[in-house]
Amino acid sequence: MEKTPNRTLITTALPYANGPVHIGHLAGVYIPADIYARYLRMRGREVLMIGGSDEHGVPITIKAKAEGVTPQDIVDRYHAIIRDSMAGLGISFDVYSRTTSELHSQTASEFFRRLYDKGEFVEKTSMQLYDEEAGQFLADRYVTGTCPHCGAEGAYGDQCEACGTSLNATDLVNPKSAITGSVPVMRETKHYYLPLDKWQGALEKWILEGHKEWKTNVYGQCKSWLDMGLQPRAVSRDLDWGIPVPVEGAEGKVLYVWFDAPIGYISNTIDLVGDDYTKWWKDPETRMLHFIGKDNIVFHCIVFPSMLMADGSYNLPDNVPANEFLNLEGDKISTSRNWAVWLHEYLRDFEGKQDVLRYVLTANAPETKDNDFTWADFQQRNNSELVAILGNFVNRAVVLTHKYFDGTVPAANPTEKETELQAEINDLKAKVTEALDNFHFREALKLAMDMARAGNRYLQETEPWKLAKTDMERTGTILNTALQICANLAIVFEPFLPFMSDKLLKMLGGDKISWDMLGCMDLVPAGAKIGEPVLLFEKIEDDAIQAQVQKLLDTKKANELQAWKPAPVKADCTYEDFEKVDIRVGKVLECSKVKKSKKLLQFLIDDGMEKRTILSGIALSYEDPSVLVGKEVCFIANFPPRKMMGIESQGMILSAVNPDGTLTVISPSAPVAPGASVG
Ligand code: 2FM
Ligand code: ZN
Repeated sequence: MEKTPNRTLITTALPYANGPVHIGHLAGVYIPADIYARYLRMRGREVLMIGGSDEHGVPITIKAKAEGVTPQDIVDRYHAIIRDSMAGLGISFDVYSRTTSELHSQTASEFFRRLYDKGEFVEKTSMQLYDEEAGQFLADRYVTGTCPHCGAEGAYGDQCEACGTSLNATDLVNPKSAITGSVPVMRETKHYYLPLDKWQGALEKWILEGHKEWKTNVYGQCKSWLDMGLQPRAVSRDLDWGIPVPVEGAEGKVLYVWFDAPIGYISNTIDLVGDDYTKWWKDPETRMLHFIGKDNIVFHCIVFPSMLMADGSYNLPDNVPANEFLNLEGDKISTSRNWAVWLHEYLRDFEGKQDVLRYVLTANAPETKDNDFTWADFQQRNNSELVAILGNFVNRAVVLTHKYFDGTVPAANPTEKETELQAEINDLKAKVTEALDNFHFREALKLAMDMARAGNRYLQETEPWKLAKTDMERTGTILNTALQICANLAIVFEPFLPFMSDKLLKMLGGDKISWDMLGCMDLVPAGAKIGEPVLLFEKIEDDAIQAQVQKLLDTKKANELQAWKPAPVKADCTYEDFEKVDIRVGKVLECSKVKKSKKLLQFLIDDGMEKRTILSGIALSYEDPSVLVGKEVCFIANFPPRKMMGIESQGMILSAVNPDGTLTVISPSAPVAPGASVG
């Protein structure tokens, strides 16, 4: 098929509505899809970009239970947050719908029923995990246990997050119910299975022979699934949240979330265009692309296509440009551990800086391998690329035009220099176009930036601010050329940085732009008035970055606290052993840091008989040791004296060790006479 055929249906993985979207979702799916959709629209192609919330599945019911609300409350809350924040970032969905809609329920039911009536399912009774306390079957995330492949604890009933293996709940070693914590029993239940094995041959032919051009990560994953041999897969669940299985005798069963979710792409298309959806889904001239993250590859390349083939009337995807994962400051992004940069919070904390996030996430997109987002890189890319290269070039061109030509575009009389520059711009246009056609968005963005670099170099070499003293005609040519490059930048960056592009275009007095115009050097006509200079990007200061880093440090601390477990109890200690230790209460008379020591505090204690000096290694936990003066503390009175840093310590102060390793001195809960024994 041609690289950019006339009609393209772009689907984007429907995010689970059990939390907001984060930078990992954006870098992996929504920003690349949006860049591509915007690019095709600029090329005048017919495009639909489909989005929506995935509102079924176990994680949603677990969250609802934890909060004491209904699953509908949860999805209503997050659907709104996701929809609004995506719009805030300029993700240009043609439709953003949801899988709890009536239309979707009907579309998915009919799809299932069609396959059922054609005899495409196998009904099988098997033993499944059952929680007797909760009175329900445990599938997917309702059950955790040890991964049978890598031995990791806490693997889920549908997937081990440690090694990425997709699992059946019954595969888990030592399974435990996520609802009650009890050990499940086995109970018989009937389910509907899609026999993926029936489609093995067709899938092999279609992917392994027909789509060798797919990204290696996608092709490789498909090949490994196919090489292992496909098995029938259950597409129903015993749950009370989901779309009821539309068959007599299936009461209490719902469609598996991964059966109904991809049908969401179809129902959302119907939601937007009604009966015209067949043009998008069934006309072989229409190209379909699924933008997803790597954890969704099997569902989009094996399971959903098998469903579509079983139906027989739909197109199959032409490409599935799945991305790898984005990490955050070296750690895996996690909704449950709150280790993420949430889009709605970003938009609040960095108002008006949508394009900065779009830029950084594209420049760092995990296209071929997992990548890392760091706040330091975010700041650096903003300050030294967006501000220093792109913003600076545009600003110089516009400011100089105002300074020397009163904001009127001067006439151009191009020389060899300008012809060379135009050739460079045309060459970049060809390369950007090719990169975009091949879903190489990082490279395309870099090439677009090279256009701004070329502009800067041109101004640096021609120095119109010097020429203006002697040669206004040549100055005019240079500034005219610089303004034409600005207009080219507004075009080439539109898919990546639409907010900037809009602002720039307004500044230049232009409106409609198309990809065809890229490379032209007469986009801003001589004699036209341009607008006042507006800064396209501003420097991001250290304190804004520090605040974000601190937020992550706080999260890390909270997670450590949550994961902390007390140390195991030591070997037995007899009463006689204990009696040997003379613990007493003393009053702190003085307390100060020991010079030249980071760790030691020096106490002067009233022990009821005399004053004694005790050194304690707790200085790192007490920034201001004077807070301990006047406090009663517990100490061991019969430790043999010991010299440290030239000071003799006569005992040991007792402290509790906190989960983060800091120490807190132990004090009695009510006033006690100094010298009192503790036992
Ligand atoms: O992994 C996920 O977040 C899923 N909710 C994606 C679903 S994609 C599609 F099939 F809807
Ligand atoms: Zn594992």
